[in-house]
Amino acid sequence: MPQHIGFIMDGNGRWAKKRAMPRNFGHKQGASVFKKTINWCREFGVRAATFYAFSTENWKRPEDEVKGIMNLLRQYIKDIRAMAKENVRFVFIGDLSAFEDDIRVELLDIMDTSKENNEFIAGVALNYGGRAEIANCARKLAEKCVSGELEPEDITEELIENVLYTREFPPLDLVIRPSGEQRLSNFLIWQAAYAEFVFMDVLWPDFKKKDLEHAIKEFAGRSRRFGGV
Ligand code: IPE
Ligand code: IPE
Ligand code: MG
Repeated sequence: MPQHIGFIMDGNGRWAKKRAMPRNFGHKQGASVFKKTINWCREFGVRAATFYAFSTENWKRPEDEVKGIMNLLRQYIKDIRAMAKENVRFVFIGDLSAFEDDIRVELLDIMDTSKENNEFIAGVALNYGGRAEIANCARKLAEKCVSGELEPEDITEELIENVLYTREFPPLDLVIRPSGEQRLSNFLIWQAAYAEFVFMDVLWPDFKKKDLEHAIKEFAGRSRRFGGV
């Protein structure tokens, strides 16, 4: 069983287009699948999952789409709070300073009030980019070098791991990308160094429990060598 699964929630726009509906209709459907997937993961005994919800690159989308996604996030905060009451810890990864105050305050509060929950960790990547995350780590460690707290030669992989957003998550074992695209799109690039990948043709709003089961089975059949024999 993978301990930590990353989900690239892709294909919302195409799902809506197929129905001659606006893209934001697809995002709404996708958000409901996000909620269900957390429960399926818990049923399968997975310990953590990180969901790619909005990337540092997604700001380039048309203004009304970005606005729609932000409003959806506002609506979803209530559902996230309810899930956080069921012993789920929420960790929002990414640069939250870009969000409007009302959203940011809620997200920080949910993170804080759920931090002792230990049944499941749900990571939600918002204004997240793997390159930005690594640059952020470099900045933090450089600051420590300047203040004399750290020597450059003491910087190790482990030290970097300890400043990543995912420092309290189990190792990322599996990345699932629906929608037919086969790329990471700047998602958890450091963490995915030895993850297994399962790409699926289903669009995210159509993603079902059986698709998750299929990906987990596929993972179970893989031989992970981590460079060994
Ligand atoms: C993913 O679905 C959701 C976000 C990036 C916010 P898309 O909106 O990328 O859907 P497609 O890829 O255009 O179908
Ligand atoms: C990745 O999907 C980002 C999220 C799912 C939030 P994109 O749709 O933005 O990725 P590209 O543009 O196809 O690489
Ligand atoms: Mg897409």
